[in-house]
Amino acid sequence: MPKKKIAVLTGAGVSAESGLATFRGSGGLWGEYDPQEVASIEGWYRNRELVLGFYNQLREQLSKAKPNAAHLAIAGLEKDYEVTVITQNVDNLHERAGSTRVIHLHGEATKVRPEDGVYDRTYSEKEVIDVGYEPVCLGDLAPNGCQLRPHIVFFGEAVPNIEKAIDVVADADIMLIVGTSLNVYPAAGLYRYAKNNTPVYLIDPEDVAIYDPKITHIREVATKGMDEFIRRIKE
Ligand code: OAD
Repeated sequence: MPKKKIAVLTGAGVSAESGLATFRGSGGLWGEYDPQEVASIEGWYRNRELVLGFYNQLREQLSKAKPNAAHLAIAGLEKDYEVTVITQNVDNLHERAGSTRVIHLHGEATKVRPEDGVYDRTYSEKEVIDVGYEPVCLGDLAPNGCQLRPHIVFFGEAVPNIEKAIDVVADADIMLIVGTSLNVYPAAGLYRYAKNNTPVYLIDPEDVAIYDPKITHIREVATKGMDEFIRRIKE
């Protein structure tokens, strides 16, 4: 029998127990920083140094973080299911936990690419450079002579992987959403592409921005919630 397909959409909450801050809510990054300054395309052109510094700091924090039991449980689902992780996170904790199919909707903190001054230009995957956890500074140039920028989908930019993610959700037998406030589109609307008979589970200790009776809300932190989710799908 072919394995059932699970589409997993994750947000900052799945990495919270690894010590990485979420964006909204108390202690969230957007309480300390203005996303229009550090995570928008306008902010980038206004002050590249500030934006580079913000992502250098995230990269450094990531170098010290480890996947938690929720990342490991999601990777472990691959034993019995065909799992695709669609993550809004720019960390690499799903990959480090062993997940083999990961779609990054909002980019990757450990990668950079050249900017070329054209608003919302498309780029080629060949231009993307893996810098690991190293800082990137103003004046650090790509082979084509352009300033390197974070390989991040800034606010105001298109989400290149959204079509791929929609296909995964539309094809899934089970959908799981973990640790996202569902405030940011198009990611927040992805679950609506699931087939009518595809159950949709959400693991989050808090209320999220979307209420839909179709969604079964497991009101737990990610690590505990994963145990509950696995129990329910095995029933
Ligand atoms: P948010 O910070 O908006 O939401 C995090 C969610 O995680 C909240 O609903 C929390 O209740 C929940 N949470 C907190 N601790 C948790 C835990 N231990 N286990 C499970 N859930 C927990 O983060 P996202 O929804 O991921 O984009 O934010 C979406 C996008 O907004 C991000 O990708 C980022 C941000 O601006 C960009 O920077 C482009």
